[in-house]
Amino acid sequence: MKVEVVMPQLSDLFFASSNINKYKEAKKILDEFGINLKFFKCDLLEIQSNSLKEIAKNKAEQAFQQCKKPVLVEDDGIFIDSLKGFPGPYSSYVFKTIGNKGILKLVNQNRRAKFVSIISFYDKKIHESFESKVNGIISKTVNGIGWGYDPIFIPSKSKRTFAQLKNKNEISHRYKSLKKFSSWYLRKFE
Ligand code: IMP
Repeated sequence: MKVEVVMPQLSDLFFASSNINKYKEAKKILDEFGINLKFFKCDLLEIQSNSLKEIAKNKAEQAFQQCKKPVLVEDDGIFIDSLKGFPGPYSSYVFKTIGNKGILKLVNQNRRAKFVSIISFYDKKIHESFESKVNGIISKTVNGIGWGYDPIFIPSKSKRTFAQLKNKNEISHRYKSLKKFSSWYLRKFE
């Protein structure tokens, strides 16, 4: 007997960002969960806030105004213990200004840090956000070729930076928050 598998018909889902690296990772992760993610390249204004969630929610609304389709946006930050959580919500600006070498100069003996990701979904009616983190440490030197802070972040239980790991997409802050999003989305829109 032939069994027909009927896949849920989900409407188009876009990832709004100016950062193609984030999209590529998100796409690969959501492919695994059977969700087809498209790219909506755009520049979104970042409100000034100490809350990544508020920033992400605001960006999701802006993105929806532009693309008029259900959208995901992501806001991230790297929080360094010895710098009292800095750069946190200012990670993007700090990366553009002092970069990884500048961060290495600031960090002292306590090298503990965490990456936090907020994924925010908006389709005009529903607004949902999903948060995850990965704990780790800041390396002593820049190691590996990768984007953003990947060459200086060593996740817990590893000796290598995100930039040196083949399985970053299986353990990252992005993976964890997208996994939470997927189970919510598939249940909701199935
Ligand atoms: P935003 O969410 O676009 O504001 O990004 C915050 C900053 O964190 C950017 O400078 C990114 O380069 C950096 N960032 C976010 N996620 C990652 C990651 O997975 N690896 C490396 N850097 C990241």
